[in-house]
Amino acid sequence: MQPLQLFDPASSTYTYVLFDETTRDALIIDPVDDQLERDMATLRQYGLTLKWTLETHAHADHITSAAQLAEHAGAKTAAPKACGIETAAVQLSDGDTLTFGRETIQALHTPGHTAGSMSYLWRAHVFTGDTLLINGCGRTDFQSGSARDMHRSLTEILFKLPEQTTVWPGHDYHGRTQSTIGAEKSVNARIAGKTLEEFVALMEGLNLPKPRRIDEALPANLASGVRHDADGADTEGVRTAAGYAGDVPAALAYAWWQAGDAVLVDVRTDAEREWVGFVPGAVALAWKQWPGMAMNPHFDEGLRSAVPAHKKVVLLCRSGVRSIAAAKRATELGLQAYNILEGFEGDSDTHAHRGNKGGWRLRELPWRQG
Ligand SMILES: [Fe+2]
Repeated sequence: MQPLQLFDPASSTYTYVLFDETTRDALIIDPVDDQLERDMATLRQYGLTLKWTLETHAHADHITSAAQLAEHAGAKTAAPKACGIETAAVQLSDGDTLTFGRETIQALHTPGHTAGSMSYLWRAHVFTGDTLLINGCGRTDFQSGSARDMHRSLTEILFKLPEQTTVWPGHDYHGRTQSTIGAEKSVNARIAGKTLEEFVALMEGLNLPKPRRIDEALPANLASGVRHDADGADTEGVRTAAGYAGDVPAALAYAWWQAGDAVLVDVRTDAEREWVGFVPGAVALAWKQWPGMAMNPHFDEGLRSAVPAHKKVVLLCRSGVRSIAAAKRATELGLQAYNILEGFEGDSDTHAHRGNKGGWRLRELPWRQG
């Protein structure tokens, strides 16, 4: 069985789709945001259900579509634990596996290009990201890279795989598509026949230019590809309200929170956060609690301990209704309290479905599945 190999010409990035031929459950490695439509079409063409999006590392040269694929295709997001991609639902450690249908893929921690970089082993295939490239390897001079770690990952981990293992790189700039462990071990110009010291000297002498898109791509990729600069939505202002400080768009609330001016409090139930999704780092303090939606008797004390007197509090619920009640209560407690418009899931549409009309999630602010 072969993976589907897809190519993004702008960044020379390879994306891979793997699937179970019977159940049609699929997994995608290193998807690129500009190729979302192509990838969705590929899934449709092969009749696949996308179960997982997987990153080899936090990329500097393109933006991942992981968060968008989670939205559009229902996939779960997974990333190497040490890459700091906090929005990924599953944080992988060395040796961890993911399953799709009856297929299993295994994570191999191969630091060097970045400290968190991973390769993935599936059947007799290894997806090496920017660790092992065809007749090359990823650069090690920025983003927590280390030539010594790279040498160890290549010689002690990847080159210990069976020689016939197919190597599928994260990039190729010369039109090559695949190699084998045996071939790379014997002819790879960066590493074959070199001592550790020779390899380190070679890597340190490369003097490569800074990646073109790093300033834009890296922050977005640390949030599964969500771009906070997308449409300038955070320039919209505060709407005054009766009984509390005002209503704010989600993007503005997010900006205040990120700047340290406000505390973000999620007032939904534990069940909603667990089933629908949550915002990493937000204070979880239910206004009412499932079952029965009884008032949370500890709301006041919870709010007092979560919000310092000099900070604003921005309150998030499902659709921006419960959070109004919570904002009024917070105001009574002496806080400068704002309701986040549209909530996490937005308003219900004409079919009574949520998620299509506004909301934190639709506006592509960071969130994660429970
Ligand atoms: Fe990279």
